[in-house]
Amino acid sequence: MRGALLLLGVGASAVLASPQGGGYGGYGGYGGGGDDDHRTSTTPTSTTAPPQTSGTTTTGNVSSSVLLGMNGDTVCTPYLCVGALVNGTTVQYTLQSLGKADLGWMAMGFGQTMANSPMVIMWPNADGSVTLSQRQASAEVMPTVVPTPPRIATKQPALSSLTGSNPKLVYTIPANTDTQQGIIWAFGSQRPSSAAEDATLLQHVLSGPTKLNLGNTLAADSRDPTNPISSLSGSDTPPPSAGVSTPLLPYQKMIVAHAILCVVGFLAILPAGALLARWLRTFNPIWFKGHHLLQLFISLPIIVPGVALGFAAVHKAGAEHLSDDHMKWGLGIFVLYIIQLMVGEFIHTIKPKSWSVDKRRPPQNYFHAILGLLIIALAFYQVRTGYKTEWPKQTGRGEISNAANIVWYVWVVLIPVLYFGGLVFLRRQYKQERMTRPKHRDETSESEEMRPRYRDSPDHS
Ligand code: HEM
Ligand code: HEM
Repeated sequence: MRGALLLLGVGASAVLASPQGGGYGGYGGYGGGGDDDHRTSTTPTSTTAPPQTSGTTTTGNVSSSVLLGMNGDTVCTPYLCVGALVNGTTVQYTLQSLGKADLGWMAMGFGQTMANSPMVIMWPNADGSVTLSQRQASAEVMPTVVPTPPRIATKQPALSSLTGSNPKLVYTIPANTDTQQGIIWAFGSQRPSSAAEDATLLQHVLSGPTKLNLGNTLAADSRDPTNPISSLSGSDTPPPSAGVSTPLLPYQKMIVAHAILCVVGFLAILPAGALLARWLRTFNPIWFKGHHLLQLFISLPIIVPGVALGFAAVHKAGAEHLSDDHMKWGLGIFVLYIIQLMVGEFIHTIKPKSWSVDKRRPPQNYFHAILGLLIIALAFYQVRTGYKTEWPKQTGRGEISNAANIVWYVWVVLIPVLYFGGLVFLRRQYKQERMTRPKHRDETSESEEMRPRYRDSPDHS
């Protein structure tokens, strides 16, 4: 049990701590522009930029010295930087990839939530063209094209650059009155299905809200809003985004709860019930009460909400149900678990004559034991795909700590060793059963040692 708690604890903290990229969760902010948040990744007045190396460099199509004294700001997130340059009545925005993932699409929106913020989504196409799509979404679902957005954005392919490890996509839009501008950003690693403005987008790897300060005056050590990965002094200053941590989104919290409940239910309670049966059944008839209690009355109220939270998280994230192996296996394992509960109740309530009189174990009893072990084995696999593949894939928060791996390996060895070790009592069990068969009854009454403890019939339990 202590081990179970350890697995749970490490699993949960590993998910929550997510060290290597773990902080790269979505909403929660990597603010720029003087935000008091310690996660702020860069501000134009940052003093951490390396010293100026040369007088003038060319960034994008603009000589950086020309930008000194102009208004603009840059903010970097784990996957992209957004640069804003105020140019009279228009603002030029540059979305630049940090090269952490293949560029599928990059986007920003004016607002602080995914829902109801006008968005500008851009992506490069195979033929070297760039698509700009102005969209909006009413919830956390794929945004759809808005034919008449509040402000019309114009793509600037000539200022964009699609080559190299830090491709950038540029557009201009009429300025509004914003000085402190709340924006959202998103980065997708899969190229949309076509160059059409209404092409299907695959969900972002990561997204979040942040801020730009359009009233900021650009200085030499500011980041270059037209080439945000470098500063105006010309030096490449990698955005200090590593190690930041962002709060979990509501749907991510649901996944954490889903993981904890499923791990406890499937990998602690169910194995405990199976081990209890294996080790105790030839010694004390209480094994059956314990088995029944753990497998039905304790596991059910943990597993049902656990699996339901998996479905709820998929729904909340606007993702598609049963769209990958983890989701399909998850449903399958849950169905098997329900069947197993019914088989358990069935073998307990309906005893064929072969068992109640002859003490010969009917096939359904063997089936129950084998299905029980199969469910636990599948749950081991499922938990692994859950934390190893599904979590990074659905949240973009990077791999979780190796501690979860270690605990998983220990558990996957320990539980089978304990269970199969308990098979040493099989001989004793069969002997006890033999002794209670009608023709042996007289002999058994003599032997306390061989009085049956495997009883599970209603009159004994
Ligand atoms: C035996 C244990 C588990 C079972 C039976 C299970 C089952 C499920 C089910 C049924 C779904 C949703 C299916 C749908 O809506 O189509 C799901 C989703 C998910 N599960 Fe599990 N799961 C288990 C363990 C885990 C663990 C340990 C993790 C670790 C983090 C995890 C992470 C996820 C994630 C990330 C999703 C997708 C959520 C989203 O797309 O927003 N699962 N799981
Ligand atoms: C999904 C939950 C369950 C799992 C994973 C499970 C697993 C197991 C396993 C592995 C065994 C074999 C133990 C051994 O090595 O001897 C077993 C035996 C047994 N279980 Fe369950 N069980 C579950 C639910 C239930 C329920 C709800 C009942 C109802 C009372 C039940 C009744 C029994 C009985 C009567 C036996 C003895 C079968 C025999 O050997 O004749 N089980 N169970």
